[in-house]
Amino acid sequence: MSAHELTCIKCGKRYSGDDIVYICERCGGLLDVKYDYSAVNTDSIERVLREESAHHSGVWKFSELLPFGAGVRVVSVGEGNTPLYHCDRLGSLLGVRELYVKHEGLNPTGSFKDRGMTVGVTKAVELGVRGVACASTGNTSASLSVFAARASIPCYVLLPKGKVALGKLAQAIMHGAMVFSIRGNFDDALCVVRELCERANIYLLNSVNPYRLEGQKTIAFEIAEQLTKGNIVKSHHTPRTNKHACEIEIPDRVVVPVGNAGNISAIYKGFWELKKLGFTEHIPRMTGIQAEGASPIVDAFKKGEENITPVEHPETIATAIRIGNPVNAQKALHAIRESGGVAETVSDDEITDAQKALAGLEGIGVEPASASSIAGLRRLIEDGVVDSDERVVCIATGNLLKDPEHVVRICKKPLEVDASVDALLHIIRQQTAQLKPNLSSSV
Ligand code: F0G
Repeated sequence: MSAHELTCIKCGKRYSGDDIVYICERCGGLLDVKYDYSAVNTDSIERVLREESAHHSGVWKFSELLPFGAGVRVVSVGEGNTPLYHCDRLGSLLGVRELYVKHEGLNPTGSFKDRGMTVGVTKAVELGVRGVACASTGNTSASLSVFAARASIPCYVLLPKGKVALGKLAQAIMHGAMVFSIRGNFDDALCVVRELCERANIYLLNSVNPYRLEGQKTIAFEIAEQLTKGNIVKSHHTPRTNKHACEIEIPDRVVVPVGNAGNISAIYKGFWELKKLGFTEHIPRMTGIQAEGASPIVDAFKKGEENITPVEHPETIATAIRIGNPVNAQKALHAIRESGGVAETVSDDEITDAQKALAGLEGIGVEPASASSIAGLRRLIEDGVVDSDERVVCIATGNLLKDPEHVVRICKKPLEVDASVDALLHIIRQQTAQLKPNLSSSV
């Protein structure tokens, strides 16, 4: 970071970088930020410009562990490379030593599905399929539509009627997929699309397709990379200094929202591979969270059963995980048990509280399903299952903007006011007085 000052582009008047000034006070001209270029560290810029930079894809940078040969034609939208946030405020509120949120909602289409789809659609192109299809609670369809558009292959999407968040629906219809609204829930749609793919010779890209999970396992690699390099987003950001990487760092626990149960299985596989290859001796405790109204995996885990009993009428505000018969249940139960993890449910109210806490305390905007990981962690800490001394990573799976209707339902509406400063100040004073009586006079 370099020393700087503000300079008026018209009259040249100079201001300190600490001044709160937007327009030149002398002549009304626009201001520009000026540096002392003689003091700039050009070596560090040269390194960025010339040396091999970060890979554009957070998935394909790990191509050594992806199932393709050297000449593969990758279909990519610049997926992965999502930030790992250190959440100290939320962590101390929940009572855990070190809390991180991996914001997969900052993928190009707003969810972790992009990691799976770049691999799945690349495979589809390699196989020369005539089309791709999926059933979806929304995010899978949004991602597949985008990747199919990039690859110029026909795309068919089956959605449960009336149960898909607006942002996801907008993506699917905008990117040119043929979108069907199925009279039934996600599980019904998945049954139909599986048969459709078989009968019409279309390539199925739900998470029952193992190539999808190969892309999603890179979440584990990236968490290890970010913790090891110290490449973490903190609330008070100081310029990053890469840690000298000695040992590969792995969290104690990873908390994942569970729907069709592909992602938790994939992330487990990623950590398992790091162990297999000798990078670490530990695998984090994989912790799966489901909504109370759609929790077949939690039920099976708690009863110690091998197989799930499907939930016939799943229901939750977290529509992304409104799934009663997850196809990857076996893999997920294996991941949770083998890693010494747990599975827990959360109520819709707990999900909403966690969503607001993440947004308000940490500036991390997620959709309801994603917030279930935080809500679940909270419950597990309260129940004494998670130790306060743990280093925990919660996966935030999807972006806040996916489900704007839910946000409008749970948050205060904007305050309507005349276009007058007096009117604004009146309301600000009123509101501030309600919040913090002793601060109201300072406005
Ligand atoms: N979070 C979000 C935001 C999701 O969209 C999903 C799944 C999950 C969590 C659960 O992941 O299925 O791998 O256990 N969404 C799928 C879809 C079902 O169609 O978009 P999972």
